[in-house]
Amino acid sequence: MENILILGSTGSIGQNAIEIIKKGSKYNIIGIAFNKNISKAIEQIKLLKPKYVYVAKADYIEQLKQLFPTIKYFTQDALVDLIAKSDVDFVINAFVGSAGILPSYYAIYYKKKFALANKESLVVAGKILTDLAKKNNIEIIPIDSEHSAIYQCLDGKRQYLNKIILTASGGPFRQTDKEQFANITKEMALHHPKWNMGAKITIDSATMMNKGFEVIEAGWLFDLESHQIEVVVHKECVMHSAVEFIDGSIIAQMALPDMKLPIAYALYKPHRIEFKNKLSFVDIGSLTFEKPDLEKFELLALAQEAFRKKDKNLGLLLNAADEVCVEHFLENKIKFTDIPKIIKQIIVDFEDNLSNNIFELQAQTQMIKTQTIKLIEKTRGF
Ligand SMILES: NC(=O)c1ccc[n+]([C@@H]2O[C@H](COP(=O)([O-])OP(=O)(O)OC[C@H]3O[C@@H](n4cnc5c(N)ncnc54)[C@H](OP(=O)(O)O)[C@@H]3O)[C@@H](O)[C@H]2O)c1
Repeated sequence: MENILILGSTGSIGQNAIEIIKKGSKYNIIGIAFNKNISKAIEQIKLLKPKYVYVAKADYIEQLKQLFPTIKYFTQDALVDLIAKSDVDFVINAFVGSAGILPSYYAIYYKKKFALANKESLVVAGKILTDLAKKNNIEIIPIDSEHSAIYQCLDGKRQYLNKIILTASGGPFRQTDKEQFANITKEMALHHPKWNMGAKITIDSATMMNKGFEVIEAGWLFDLESHQIEVVVHKECVMHSAVEFIDGSIIAQMALPDMKLPIAYALYKPHRIEFKNKLSFVDIGSLTFEKPDLEKFELLALAQEAFRKKDKNLGLLLNAADEVCVEHFLENKIKFTDIPKIIKQIIVDFEDNLSNNIFELQAQTQMIKTQTIKLIEKTRGF
């Protein structure tokens, strides 16, 4: 049995991972980590009886100690001590946001088996993390469905790769005229046509920032140049991505959209576990592919540009400004159309002199977030 630590256990990916792990006998969940969803965490502690619990909001520890006194608790900066524990064999990073970046670094630094869902890690610290992974001979196993698809298709054939074809659902506004974008409400944006995910990633799918992040993630993860990453809108969401080899052959990974599949693959590869619902080509009838509309979805274009200039680490700006914008949009403080306007302005203002030191990224992210809030306050209603 391998001891697994689930960072983000109370979230959408974390809960799915627990469900899959509980069905098998390969893993013992030795630790869980979350932010503030105390009721879900209590439920999980009762079910899993973990040895370790990390709570980002320290105030909750006393309450948990009363209920579960034998657990060893961690908070704030002590996450590194938890990841470093010698009885932690495998780390799943399913934290949302920039809180996930340093934990990825520590998991690789301490040479743990490592599966990554947290997008921000590679978007903000792609070079640092992939360099360290190479040095420490650690494989970063992707959980994101597109990256898992590419990973499954490559399967030992990386040297023949010509390009990857990253599929995108197009989100809920694929067919909405750009003129209508100013009227998009949070309720409309939270309704993804195919995937059921956490709020942040759902809004990012609606703006296609999410696909932009995935371009950057894929670039680092599979060591690609920007011209080797093609984004294709595929509204049926059954082809989760594909790879094209030098002889023109294309191999795609296809299945019904269900995040449990890439999570299970990350946990059990090269083995596969049984899923009841299967994809039927006949039921689907036809598959469609189209170019993304980069004028409508400016954030995708911006992320592609950011990866072209990857030495500048613009992913840090995109990620920090987007996190603030999505939060404000969810609180009805800015309009849907303000999100790209604000992020573009932040890039113009802070494009130069970004850090590539892992321990400075957090502070820089915080600085950019503060500047984004200031910009929002200054330009409210533009
Ligand atoms: N959901 C998907 O289908 C999907 C697909 C591909 C990639 N991803 C990526 O996977 C990551 C997780 O996504 P999700 O949808 O599972 O998110 P989610 O449902 O919002 O869950 C996020 C998890 O992170 C915890 N968390 C939030 N802020 C934290 C902090 N400051 N410190 C420590 N823990 C914190 C949350 O704890 P509380 O519950 O206590 O707040 C929760 O356990 C994201 O980076 C996302 O982009 C998700």
